[in-house]
Amino acid sequence: MDNPFRPTAGASPPELIGRAGVLDEFAYGLRLRSGAPGLLTIFTGARGVGKTVMLGAAEDLARTQGWAVVSETATKGFLGRIGHAMRRLAEELGSGPQGRRLTAVTAAGFGFTTQLPPQQQLEWREEGLRLLHLLEEQRTGLVITVDEIHAADRQEIAQLAADVQHFIRADLPVALLFAGLPAAVSDLLNEGVATFLRRADRIDLHAAAVDEVQRSYAETFAAGGFTLTEGQARRAAEATGGYPFLIQLVGYFLWQEAEKVSPVLTDAMVDQAVAAARRRNERVVIEAALSTASPRDLDVLRAMAEDDGPSTAGDIGARIGARPNTVGNYRTRLIDAGLIEPAGYGLVRFAIPGLREHLRQGRA
Ligand SMILES: Nc1ncnc2c1ncn2[C@@H]1O[C@H](COP(=O)(O)OP(=O)(O)OP(=O)(O)O)[C@@H](O)[C@H]1O
Ligand SMILES: [Mg+2]
Repeated sequence: MDNPFRPTAGASPPELIGRAGVLDEFAYGLRLRSGAPGLLTIFTGARGVGKTVMLGAAEDLARTQGWAVVSETATKGFLGRIGHAMRRLAEELGSGPQGRRLTAVTAAGFGFTTQLPPQQQLEWREEGLRLLHLLEEQRTGLVITVDEIHAADRQEIAQLAADVQHFIRADLPVALLFAGLPAAVSDLLNEGVATFLRRADRIDLHAAAVDEVQRSYAETFAAGGFTLTEGQARRAAEATGGYPFLIQLVGYFLWQEAEKVSPVLTDAMVDQAVAAARRRNERVVIEAALSTASPRDLDVLRAMAEDDGPSTAGDIGARIGARPNTVGNYRTRLIDAGLIEPAGYGLVRFAIPGLREHLRQGRA
């Protein structure tokens, strides 16, 4: 059996830990096909918590029910790309054996600029309607997923929302699923660019329970023919804090150790794997997250790292010699960047595991 762990962004893990029931409303919506709240869902959560993987799981579920899927990331021009994908799907369906042959395929393509000109906006909607009517005849529907929604161009989002709202009003079988960082998604919803999106089912993803991680490790390693004691599974699980990316990293390195060294794992091998996982997590998640931080942002983060738990704005201000509103501005920036998160009134904490240690060791 090959190493089943997948420590890569967006890659499907061997087991979706701690996500039981998360897609229930969506699955129910797929059965009803229109008008169900689960057909409009936003997944939020810290970096590496498993948002992209949830979108993927929802897409897989939809495909098993025969639904068509358009999967996009909210980089510049995503609306145009969704339009292209809808057109292709409609063409495939329309020329299929049971489908009607569609003759009037419009000649103009969709632009890849952020805002579609009015003529293309109309076409976009018509393309969607055409596809949805075809899918309706087959008693299935269309799922559109948009990842990294926090970075989306506001005009594109507003247009997408307006069109999808139009489809929903017409009782057509469409689902719209988003994923993004929590604070930035809240801002997006509060800005009122697309009030209709506020009605979306918002599912905030968190770390999994350590117990579940332990059980999963025990089962996965047993299935691979390796011997991992209960204590070792516990130790490895605790080191992940239930954080999905670390679950994959620790599992991956542990599996490698077992393959290389011995199928009967030792405590030392567990510690090796945990250390390797932490190093990789720092390189991949922490350094990437910090790459957009300014020197002053880093001062704020270092000031926070002096605390063992959440930090108060007052303490941060005193440590970096800044006034409350200045601290407030950095707070907002760092929350939007997914580096820290609110932790109760006037408190903030790190949103990425290992970030505090990274800063304390003077590595940023
Ligand atoms: N429920 C889960 N159980 C175990 N592993 C998971 C789970 N969800 C995601 N993972 C793993 O965690 C890692 C991160 O997942 P994913 O890329 O979906 O996170 P993300 O929230 O989209 O991160 P980012 O904010 O950086 O885009 C991947 O290696 C994935 O296999
Ligand atoms: Mg992602």
